Amino acid sequence: MEEAALKYILAPSLLAADFSQLGKQILQTKKHGAQYIHIDVMDGIFVPSISFGMPVIESIRPVTDQFFDVHLMIVDPERYIDEFAKIGADGITFHLESTKDPKHVIDLIHAKGKKAGISIKPGTPVEEVYPYLPLVDLVLVMSVEPGFGGQEFMKDAFSRIKKIRSYMTSHNIDAVLEVDGGIGKKNVKDVIKAGATAIVAGSAVFKKRSIRSNILKFRKAFEEVDLKKK
Ligand code: DX5
Ligand code: ZN
Repeated sequence: MEEAALKYILAPSLLAADFSQLGKQILQTKKHGAQYIHIDVMDGIFVPSISFGMPVIESIRPVTDQFFDVHLMIVDPERYIDEFAKIGADGITFHLESTKDPKHVIDLIHAKGKKAGISIKPGTPVEEVYPYLPLVDLVLVMSVEPGFGGQEFMKDAFSRIKKIRSYMTSHNIDAVLEVDGGIGKKNVKDVIKAGATAIVAGSAVFKKRSIRSNILKFRKAFEEVDLKKK
């Protein structure tokens, strides 16, 4: 039986999964309440590493009905929106820094009936994303330099999340505010308090103990944050 819904969105990042057990591990995250599956696609150009691409996504699509949250770390993402939509992405997030025409990419994603997300790297001034916030379904704030899992959370992400949250509140923008990189039980509550509604976690879900006990820690943190808010 599946457990009760989580209070915030948990998006386990497959980058930290055991690829020989991918289907099984995805189903475990679903069983314990993770609503999204975060899928990091890297091209070796926008970021130094190469992860995986279409065939992997296509083969895990039938395994689960969780929301496929595809995070594109590739240059000129407009080239591949059709294909990612076709193979089963539910949401496609691209980097503001990766294209000359972010509005066009958002339109392409929406034209395919998918949720559009925009992401910024730690060095990009947050103000640069503001014009796109009314147009997207999700904004992804990177709290590490994109490219690798298992890095340490950059503390100045807190003030960046807060700024975006306060811009969204004052402009009545209701997008998902997702944060990605270096999040675990030590800092997840602070990330939510700063204004996040979706948490990406790779190492903290798939490494160390079992997926079950790892996700239970997130569940507990999500509940405790809410108690404090009241
Ligand atoms: C980094 C990726 C992240 C990464 C997160 O470029 O976008 O999604 O997998 O992994 P952890 O949670 O281990 O920092
Ligand atoms: Zn990611």
